[in-house]
Amino acid sequence: MEAAKERLSDVIMRMYDDPSLMAMLDEPYDYYPQEWISPYIDRRRKLGLDLYGLLGIQKGDKDRMHAQFGRNYRFFGAPVGLMFTIDRGMGRGSLIDYGMFMQSIMIAARARGLDTCPQIAFTTFHRLIADELGIPEQQMFVCGMSLGYADPSCIENSLVTDRETVASFTIFHETTNKEAEQ
Ligand SMILES: Cc1cc2nc3c(=O)[nH]c(=O)nc-3n(C[C@H](O)[C@H](O)[C@H](O)COP(=O)(O)O)c2cc1C
Repeated sequence: MEAAKERLSDVIMRMYDDPSLMAMLDEPYDYYPQEWISPYIDRRRKLGLDLYGLLGIQKGDKDRMHAQFGRNYRFFGAPVGLMFTIDRGMGRGSLIDYGMFMQSIMIAARARGLDTCPQIAFTTFHRLIADELGIPEQQMFVCGMSLGYADPSCIENSLVTDRETVASFTIFHETTNKEAEQ
């Protein structure tokens, strides 16, 4: 099993490190928006700055950024890599169910003392992954995931991401006193 994971990482890394091959890749579906708008772009930038700041990677240091992002494809050193696919016959709404399925796996892993990292970074390589793992054409690649034990000595694992307040994304419809009396 370990050999299969290494083989997959090796073929992806060969492509990831070759800009001419990278230019030819496509995505299996739109995970990211066509155009990034505020406030999402601002949050995305902030997360990137916080993460690379922790790692001491300066803005514009493309080599180190490339190397750090490339750790995705070695599953950040985790012993298990999971690849998630869905039948192409299913509707877009099934991706909601699928996200819950993935999160259930993540929660079940935590209950057993394990850690996970869902990885959309793999979607770029969906064709390569399908070839390498013999995934049938009828299955669409959705996401990858690392499964293992988080290393608390890795500085990136100390990153705490910002949270919006509940009030910032919720509309509360309150019952008036009159309605409550009825
Ligand atoms: C669907 C999904 C895809 C993700 N893809 C990646 C990825 O490709 N690489 C990565 O390092 N982290 C990935 N992450 C992890 C996030 O970057 C972040 O570290 C993680 O969600 C923890 O932060 P949070 O507590 O704010 O969710 C992904 C998370 C989700 C939910």
